[in-house]
Amino acid sequence: MQLLTSYKLGSIELKNRMVMAPMTRSRSFSKGLATDLMAEYYAQRASAGLILSEAINISADAIGSPFTPGLYTAEQVESWKKVTDTVHKKGGVIFAQLWHTGRVAHSVDRNGVLPVAPSAVKIEGMQHFTSQGVKDYETPREMSIADIRQTIADYAQAAKNAIAAGFDGVELHAANGYLPQQFLSDSANLRTDEYGGSIENKARFTLEVMHALIDAVGGDKVGIKISPLHPYAGIAFDDPTATYTYLINELNKLNFAFVELMKRAPTFPLLPHYPVDDEIERFGKLVKQTLIAGTAYTRDTGDAELEKGIADLIAYGAAFLANPDLPRRFELGAELNTPDRATMFGGGEHGYIDYPFLK
Ligand SMILES: Cc1cc2nc3c(=O)[nH]c(=O)nc-3n(C[C@H](O)[C@H](O)[C@H](O)COP(=O)(O)O)c2cc1C
Repeated sequence: MQLLTSYKLGSIELKNRMVMAPMTRSRSFSKGLATDLMAEYYAQRASAGLILSEAINISADAIGSPFTPGLYTAEQVESWKKVTDTVHKKGGVIFAQLWHTGRVAHSVDRNGVLPVAPSAVKIEGMQHFTSQGVKDYETPREMSIADIRQTIADYAQAAKNAIAAGFDGVELHAANGYLPQQFLSDSANLRTDEYGGSIENKARFTLEVMHALIDAVGGDKVGIKISPLHPYAGIAFDDPTATYTYLINELNKLNFAFVELMKRAPTFPLLPHYPVDDEIERFGKLVKQTLIAGTAYTRDTGDAELEKGIADLIAYGAAFLANPDLPRRFELGAELNTPDRATMFGGGEHGYIDYPFLK
């Protein structure tokens, strides 16, 4: 099985081609700190070739949801060391996913401060999980050029902090409707300056952040996650193929480690004008860096995807959440634990560190 063969990611040797997909678990209850429980959770999953951490806020301004961790205070950096240490002791590799939520946020969890976004366009037809229950979205404040510059600097500083905290690298979260994808989209970006209008302008923010991350920690320690056809949080493109072809071609001019390509979740309806063919063929084929393919892969479909030769690694989300020893289970063709939706976000040990290992 190709999934269980090793892979060289830049200078890092991955013991298999199975990536634990980044997953928010909302179990950081104080000051955005990583906890002992989080260290145990990640260490349990250290048999993944590569762990991508849950999304981590790059600044106080990046916060969208309660109980999510950060990487912008000295105390937070210190707290992550126990996570990276325990993962490394178990032979694992872990990158930090860097997160700015933009408009996918609510002021009740931001000390009353309105979320910021490329434009003052609120998300309709969806509500936000807050510490005070589910709420309608607010109209965000449009970012100034100074805000944009500061945010790019915050990404770079968070990347340096991640390395200081012992992470092996960072991944820019440019998927799932968060800030970089808001800039890229036609539905959330109505700007008329150099960050809006043409595809080139809309891609500028993501590309500038990638430049900043590469400058901050070196390209071999940087990846990016994209989700071209996933319409989460009101993200829509007039022509997703044109936008992502441009973005990927520009990314190809940079030197960095990987692109994680998250396919549309089968549970989300495809926008009527979106292409229906295989996203790995359509977008993954363009990627020059290491390609991680994700969404709804099983043992067999993941291995078949690698056999096709476009993707180098396969990301597993819910399956890794529920099966700390997923590579071993794949090796043995063993049954899998079923993920419990009720304990995915928030809570304590249950549904977090108590999924059973194979005997
Ligand atoms: C509980 C949960 C939390 C998630 N949180 C994040 C996140 O913080 N960052 C991210 O990029 N994707 C997140 N995702 C998406 C996963 O990384 C992955 O792309 C998605 O689950 C599809 O893979 P799967 O079908 O193997 O689960 C999350 C998924 C789940 C199930």
